[in-house]
Amino acid sequence: MHATLAAALTVCALSSCVSSPSTPAPADPLALRAVEDLSPDPGVLELDLEARETEKSYGAASPTRVWSYNGSVPGPLLDAKVGDRVVVHFKNSLPEPTTIHWHGIRLPAAMDGSLAMQDPIPPGGTFEYAFTLKDAGLFWFHPHMRSDIQVQKGLYGVIRVRGADEPAADVERVLVLDDIRLAADGTVSETLDDTSKMMGREGKTLLVNGVPNARLSLAPGSLARLRIVNVANGRFFNLRLPGHKLRVLGTDGGHFAKPRDVDTLLVSPGERYDVMVRVEGAAGSEIPLVNEAYDRGHESGGAAPMEIMRVALSSEARPAELPMAAAFPETARLADPSGGLAVTLDEILRGEDVIFTINGKAFPDVPPFAVKLGETKAIDIDNKSEMDHPFHLHGFFFQVVSRDGVAVAPDELVDKDTVVVRAKSKMRIVARFDEAGKWMYHCHILEHGEAGMMGEIHVE
Ligand code: C2O
Ligand code: CU
Repeated sequence: MHATLAAALTVCALSSCVSSPSTPAPADPLALRAVEDLSPDPGVLELDLEARETEKSYGAASPTRVWSYNGSVPGPLLDAKVGDRVVVHFKNSLPEPTTIHWHGIRLPAAMDGSLAMQDPIPPGGTFEYAFTLKDAGLFWFHPHMRSDIQVQKGLYGVIRVRGADEPAADVERVLVLDDIRLAADGTVSETLDDTSKMMGREGKTLLVNGVPNARLSLAPGSLARLRIVNVANGRFFNLRLPGHKLRVLGTDGGHFAKPRDVDTLLVSPGERYDVMVRVEGAAGSEIPLVNEAYDRGHESGGAAPMEIMRVALSSEARPAELPMAAAFPETARLADPSGGLAVTLDEILRGEDVIFTINGKAFPDVPPFAVKLGETKAIDIDNKSEMDHPFHLHGFFFQVVSRDGVAVAPDELVDKDTVVVRAKSKMRIVARFDEAGKWMYHCHILEHGEAGMMGEIHVE
């Protein structure tokens, strides 16, 4: 996959070639850094990845010390296709141990990066992650220890896996949504105050691909495919682009057979959405992408809307109208077996402290579940707490069977790995546990996971 390098070499083959091989395009602030593929094999994406401290400007008076993969926040974009082998030579140059979890990717448990399967990689240590990509979709990677701090400080990156039939669009953009809480001196605030403990750390600075007040330039009339991931610790993004319908093609690991149009789209921490929008407006005008208030409990619904970024309509000519993706192959429905694993989520006051529990216990005291290899098993999630929790399962996709006992509509059938379980509600999901190992499940509000809302499923 040495495409860029190859192109540069061809252009510069003549000795008369002294200037740069191509005129550099105007810098795109939302561009994610590409990786250098070390393998000449087109079926292998091989890269060096280093977690290290670096500086980044968020527009504050002084630059912020952040933690990065390969020096950038977000880390590099890994672009691959279904069937590719990914080989990551990872080096930890942070002052503390870390691991990498490949969120949403179905892989051997030993490559999953959770502490159930892997020892922490010490400062100066290395580890080789290698796995084959089974599914198309947008996935992401992040540490799986002290993740509330390590992700907050900037350790996250995206893997985009292309399938055989990708929907056509004029432009496709990956939007990594985050927020950051900066102290007055420009440092990333690590303080865990009561609100952060309860809701997850939320920052006032909203970021798209690491950029505050970002502008995404699009031609009027163009069909944009937006690949959205929420990497924030605790913030839910409830997206609205005024005057526009968002067509939701899919989420996490799959597409909806019948995509539908929505005015707002809720993206909780850890989730991904595949969205299309036809951008309309006069050249030169700007449309804000708004984060609308959403009530996820504890009186969070009254927050004022916030602007996340702006779509800036360019003066490029209107492209010939591409049709919006309207249908995808049906997702194969998993049979709903009888019985299931019972997971009760709750928040409990222990002295002055709130702890987040599963079946009354805080991780690591939550007894693991045992599931037979190859078994299709349901999980009955009962959220008794006063707030929503984005439930994430490692290693497998699941399908939502019902909410509060009501079967979900057939057109909601899709493979997911992270789902919002609303406050005081129940949800039944079903997954096929076809890979052996110890797998984590947890709330993806990272402060909740770290404060106990986490468990293991042992498949053997
Ligand atoms: Cu994205 Cu266990 O997490
Ligand atoms: Cu939670």
